[in-house]
Amino acid sequence: MSVADYFDSLDYGPAPEADDNVRDWLKSHEAGFGHFIGGGFRPSRSGKTLVTHEPATGEKLAKIALGAAEDIDDAVAAAAKAQSSWEAAGGRQRARHIYALARMVQRHARLFAVLEALDNGKPIRETRDLDIPLVARHFYHHAGWAELQDSELADHQPLGVVGQIIPWNFPLLMLAWKVAPALALGNTVVLKPAESTPLTALLFAELAARAGLPAGVLNVVTGDGSTGSALVKHEGVQKIAFTGSTDVGRIIRAETAGSGKSLTLELGGKSPFIVFDDADMDGAIEGVVDAIWFNQGQVCCAGSRLLVHEGIHDRFIARLKERMDTLRVGHPLDKAIDMGAIIEKSQLDRIRTLVDKGVEEGAEAYTPDIGTPKKGFFYPPTLLTGVEPASTVATEEIFGPVMVAMSFRTPDEAVALANNSRYGLAASVWSENISLALDIAPQLKAGVVWVNATNLFDAAVGFGGYRESGYGREGGLEGAYEYLKPKAWAARKPRKPAPPLPVVEATDSFEPMSVDRTAKLYIGGKQTRPDGNYSLTIVSPKGKVIGEVGEGNRKDIRNAVAAARKAGGWATASTHLRAQILYYLGENLAARTDEFVGRLTVMTGVNKAQAQKEVETAIDRFFTYAAWADKFDGAVHSPPLRGVALAMNEPIGVAGVICPDEAPLLSFVSLVAPLMAMGNRVVAVPSERYGLIAADFYQVMETSDLPGGVLNIVTGHTMELTKTLADHDDVDIIWAFGDGEVSEVVEARSVGNMKRTFVDNGLATNWYDPKVAEGRNFLRQSVQVKNIWIPYGE
Ligand code: NAI
Repeated sequence: MSVADYFDSLDYGPAPEADDNVRDWLKSHEAGFGHFIGGGFRPSRSGKTLVTHEPATGEKLAKIALGAAEDIDDAVAAAAKAQSSWEAAGGRQRARHIYALARMVQRHARLFAVLEALDNGKPIRETRDLDIPLVARHFYHHAGWAELQDSELADHQPLGVVGQIIPWNFPLLMLAWKVAPALALGNTVVLKPAESTPLTALLFAELAARAGLPAGVLNVVTGDGSTGSALVKHEGVQKIAFTGSTDVGRIIRAETAGSGKSLTLELGGKSPFIVFDDADMDGAIEGVVDAIWFNQGQVCCAGSRLLVHEGIHDRFIARLKERMDTLRVGHPLDKAIDMGAIIEKSQLDRIRTLVDKGVEEGAEAYTPDIGTPKKGFFYPPTLLTGVEPASTVATEEIFGPVMVAMSFRTPDEAVALANNSRYGLAASVWSENISLALDIAPQLKAGVVWVNATNLFDAAVGFGGYRESGYGREGGLEGAYEYLKPKAWAARKPRKPAPPLPVVEATDSFEPMSVDRTAKLYIGGKQTRPDGNYSLTIVSPKGKVIGEVGEGNRKDIRNAVAAARKAGGWATASTHLRAQILYYLGENLAARTDEFVGRLTVMTGVNKAQAQKEVETAIDRFFTYAAWADKFDGAVHSPPLRGVALAMNEPIGVAGVICPDEAPLLSFVSLVAPLMAMGNRVVAVPSERYGLIAADFYQVMETSDLPGGVLNIVTGHTMELTKTLADHDDVDIIWAFGDGEVSEVVEARSVGNMKRTFVDNGLATNWYDPKVAEGRNFLRQSVQVKNIWIPYGE
């Protein structure tokens, strides 16, 4: 090309970043990388290896060890050995180490950025300007939490050894998101990077050792899904933190069920990008570029569903196509490109298949005529228009540079379309009307909402999903708690098995407290007959029949869940109103103290003083949560941009609650009250043995102005009702307290809609001790944090 031609086309020439240092480092490991265990590298015990490839060329990049179960054993043993001294070193000491890691990343930023671009295929512009700076920021921020842990998080302790499994789309950034909080707060780690992109994790481990990180604190075992699975199943691991596909998230949930391991899952998404007709169009067009062509669209929170206000739809699409014509796809080390390579051939095939399917389903595909490199795995930026909301491409995560576009007429329709997804990771709202944007943001079922922006991340701001996008948060204080457990719970002991029920005497020998009618269920604010018309007999410890409760079945649970779903007004009711109603519940329970004391003594066999204490503590518990209802607030974060991020505590939705036998009134109140205080609607299954106590409670509810459907009670066989609740796809969270089997069933069966679970694993709670049985630890389980990013200015 002549100089005149250049001026004519004003095209960018290639601006390649040098890769000599990275190639030298790779050469020094030509024989193959080992696992990083106990502070040094060692080969896999199985002797097996994997080869990784450069996505931009398809050429071999490195040979890595394929971790076997024995390697995981070694790594967990090293982590366990290091954990107590790492914890005992104290937050301040750990902070020094985490700061050192942050500085180490900054010192070697170029090496990391080039290696990441080669290994993953993403543009060097992104690794250099986004991935690596965010990695350093994450370590700096969490060094701060380590520093403050002893004063600010003193009522919590680390979990122990944490297993972390990460994907290939942000290899080093995902390492940072997981490793920084875990280590800062006193845990030790076994990390399993993705099989296709392990190199920056290995470089990080090598440099961390040089930066003085004690041996065994961080271990990296490379390998594939089988390696990950061995880590998930290892008994020496107290928590699994996973980022990846929803399918693997489901497998991990099922595999850890009943193990007592804590679990956070950051899964897929199909995030909406909503453009209203008053949006700044240029800004929104650049937003789309960022939302779906950043990292070739291989981003869990990619804005992949474009929803455009009908009036501007055609104009917007035309402008977007023009902008697409100027995008450049090329070698990741070329500083002048916008998009690099797709991670591997299988992913490329998947994208092609899904786009073909979209066209088959009637969508129109647009790809600019910009060319892509012939070698390697590249896919051009693609826009599908005329997409039906129920079509495959509008519902499935494509995980590639493919935007699907739809239009909407009204803000309500925009919200309905946006929420029409099984996922709920992120959303982006574009409007110059702040009232409209701030009206829409809270209505979106997503863990992160960006107003007039997209793909903003910061260590101080939590990130994580609703619905099938997973649970748990990374970043922010909420993310820190995911690596801690309350000290008050650490001393809980396995629940003693309840003594067998006595043999029932003749049914005519009713205790004086008996009811002469079968108590019903309580659904939608009304006492209702159980669907099957069966009842369960409640027997006193002396073997006398003291009454009957309805025997609820699947249909009753379904009705109760439907009633709870319908009572959505409770979620948006003022916190003041919720507080008032919880006060009434406490007051009205107090007015019936004698009745409840009588029932408890006869039904459970406790003496009168003990029963009195149980009722009084239950009353106090209502008052406590009435007090909390308008005080468990979120936060306003100040990430490093001009603007704020509002961390809002939102109710989770419909909650199933399985109650234990001990202190049947108090445990019931202790579980339902925090959930209600935070705006959830509850379907409670009271203790099977002592179900009558709930029947007595109906009168309390009926006199307390509690809206119908907020608290539904279904008595019956605990295990049967638990299974139905756990299988129900319209239940958002289950709290299960009781024997360990209940916990296991709930966790194992929660995978249908990836509902959240909060279980006691058969460990008994002292419901009388407020430190153990009430307060923030329960409130935190009653909410999900939504972070709404609001940049200031133009
Ligand atoms: P994946 O979920 O299979 O892999 C993620 C990580 O989990 C890797 O380290 C892998 O080795 C490990 N793993 C796989 N099977 C496992 C098992 N049974 N037990 C424990 N660990 C296991 O994701 P993959 O195959 O790389 O990508 C497939 C799809 O997943 C993509 O097309 C995309 O839709 C989605 N994905 C979502 C990501 C996100 O950030 N949410 C990231 C990567 C992929």
